[in-house]
This record gives sequence, structure tokens and C-alpha cells, in this order.
Amino acid sequence: MDRFSAALKVVLDGKKPGRQDIVTLLSARGSQAAALFRAAGRVRRAKVGDAVHLRAIIEFSSHCRNNCLYCGLRRDNRRLPRYRLDEGEIMSAVDKAAAMGFRTVVLQSGEDPLYSGPYIAGLVEKIKRRRGVAVTLSLGQRSREDYRIWREAGADRYLLKHETSDEELFRCLKPGSSLQARLECLHWLKELGYQAGSGNMVGLPGQSLDSLAGDILLMRELETDMAGIGPFLPHPDTPLKEAAAGSLELTLKTLAVARLCLPRAHLPATTALGTLAPGGRKAALTCGANVIMVNFTPPEVRDRYLIYPQKADITDEPRRALENVKALLAGLARPVARDYGHAIKFSGGDCT
Ligand code: 5AD
Ligand code: SF4
Repeated sequence: MDRFSAALKVVLDGKKPGRQDIVTLLSARGSQAAALFRAAGRVRRAKVGDAVHLRAIIEFSSHCRNNCLYCGLRRDNRRLPRYRLDEGEIMSAVDKAAAMGFRTVVLQSGEDPLYSGPYIAGLVEKIKRRRGVAVTLSLGQRSREDYRIWREAGADRYLLKHETSDEELFRCLKPGSSLQARLECLHWLKELGYQAGSGNMVGLPGQSLDSLAGDILLMRELETDMAGIGPFLPHPDTPLKEAAAGSLELTLKTLAVARLCLPRAHLPATTALGTLAPGGRKAALTCGANVIMVNFTPPEVRDRYLIYPQKADITDEPRRALENVKALLAGLARPVARDYGHAIKFSGGDCT
């Protein structure tokens, strides 16, 4: 058996892959890449089904205290006009999403300390009381106490991408912080009973296939419930403006390998992938993805949440975006999920 087939067999048999097995899968080309994508599609269908979960995302603040080299929201980017939404504005976006049938709202922001722990807790409580939707928070690294009170207020899930498992690259790309501190946050979130999501960027400058394999191994170790995997896209107002973007093919391969190694995780077809290439999200859905985000950030401020340029969803009204997503899913014969889309916990034997 050739190396590719042997590595594929390891993951399909539910055995623990070695780093080299993952590198081999990520190196697949031509017919092997096609076989990898097909395998990921089959595992996705068998483990999480055909239905696709839709999440309404509300980006409520573009202020950030951090200075990540890759991100347009970094604090040194003075060219970006910033905004903050107040409770009324956030609630009206939530109402709109709930009225359109969304069962999960994702509240996301830069790391903005102006929104205090108790303020966010109050907001979560109100949303849960009024609308009964699942609430996902994605507000970066905060204190354990903040995470605790938000969970107590009813938050169901938390997204905190580890970004890269390569400690040195992490230190270089996120000045003043460490991978270890971020992983500690992820452990707190799990302890507190959140469905916890992680994820990484693909094609970061200085990132090797070996380091990408490390991302997948790390997420397996964390037993991550959700994994956001998207290409790096250079932003002109950041120090990485000259760097090349991550490729569509490598991002799809990473997603496919993630599906094989985390069979029951929720994997979004990311907006970044849709921005990188037309048809990027569709391709993602055929090689492992089972989640799509629809943007409910008010149009007046939407273009100020510019993590990377030309974000694919920058102009679409939610209603229009939802129609597009439904057409995309219909073309793939994939139904829209009707349930909350909570995490399906790993059951032993799948990939242990
Ligand atoms: N390209 C792609 N993704 C990016 N993110 C931030 N900057 C970029 C970029 N230039 C992603 C990170 C972060 C999320 C908010 O956006 O993964 O977690
Ligand atoms: Fe802030 Fe997140 Fe952007 Fe880093 S990636 S600058 S923490 S919004």
C-alpha cells in the first residue's frame, strides 16, 4: 500500500494518526486529493448527517486591545473607523435572526474590555429569556470569572480559535501573548461546560505542513466541538500586507483531514474561504463542512469589521444572504438543519 492509502486507512479505521500520517494526507495531489475529499464527505455524512446548521453572526464591536500581525482590527490600524453596538442594536439584530428562523446567534467582537463581564452576562440572559436561541460567544481571551458568569447567564458555546499550534509562530503573530495562555482559556471553557470551538488559519507566512498537522493533532487532543478552519488573507493595513494568501486547495485539504480526525465536530464553510474563491464555501461543504454563518451585523457598520479585505458577506442583506445559502444547499441536496445544532460529543472509538 502506498503512503497516502496507508495514512488514509489509519484515520478511517479510527486509529490515532501520527504527525507524519497527517502531513502525508495534507500533501495529497490530483487523484489522491480527490480521494481525500470524497472520504471526508463520506465521514461527514455518516457522523453528522447531511443537514447544514445555519448560525447568525453579529459582530458588535470592532475595537480590539490586541495587535495580531494578520488582522485588520489590530489596535495599530488607525485607518479603520471603529464602532460599538449598544444593547438595543444587538437585540434588534438578534430579533431579526430569530424571526427568520435562526436557532443560534453568535456574538463576536475584537477583544474589547469596554464590554464588562457583567454587561455581557446581562445581554446573554436577556437574549436567552426573550428568544430561546442558542448563544455562542466569540470575544477572545477573558478571565475565568467572566467565562463563568457568561455560562451561568446561559451562554451555550464559545469560539476561541487557537490560530496556530506553532508556539513560535504564535508568539510572533500575536505579540504579547502565548499559545499556552490561549489553551488555558480553552480548558477553562470546557471545564465550565461550554461547547468549545477552536480552529486555525491555513497558509500563514512561516507555517509548514508539519505545523498544520500540529493544528489538527491539537484539536483532537482538545476534543474540540467546533473547528473554524479558513485561509489566511493578507490585509493591506497590516504588517503582513505583502504576504501570500493561503491557497484554496490546502485549506480544503486541511478541512478534509480535520473531518477525518474529528468526525463529529461542527466544521463551518468559512466566510474567509468564500472570500478567497468563488465557490469556496460550496467546495468546503463537499469536503467535510456542515455549518454556514450568515452575517446579521447592521449594514451601516458591516464594512468596519474588516478582519481581512473584501469579506465575502460585506454587502449581502441577511434575507438575501439566506436565500443564497439556501440555493447553495439545494444545489448540493443538503437540507437546512432544524435543530439547535449543539455539539455531538465524541463517542469512544471514532478517532481515539
Ligand atoms: N485572514 C484570515 N483570517 C483572519 N482572522 C483574522 N485575521 C485574518 C486574516 N488576515 C481570523 C482569525 C480570528 C478571526 C476573528 O478572524 O482566525 O480568529
Ligand atoms: Fe483582535 Fe482577534 Fe484581530 Fe487579534 S485576531 S487583532 S485578537 S480581533
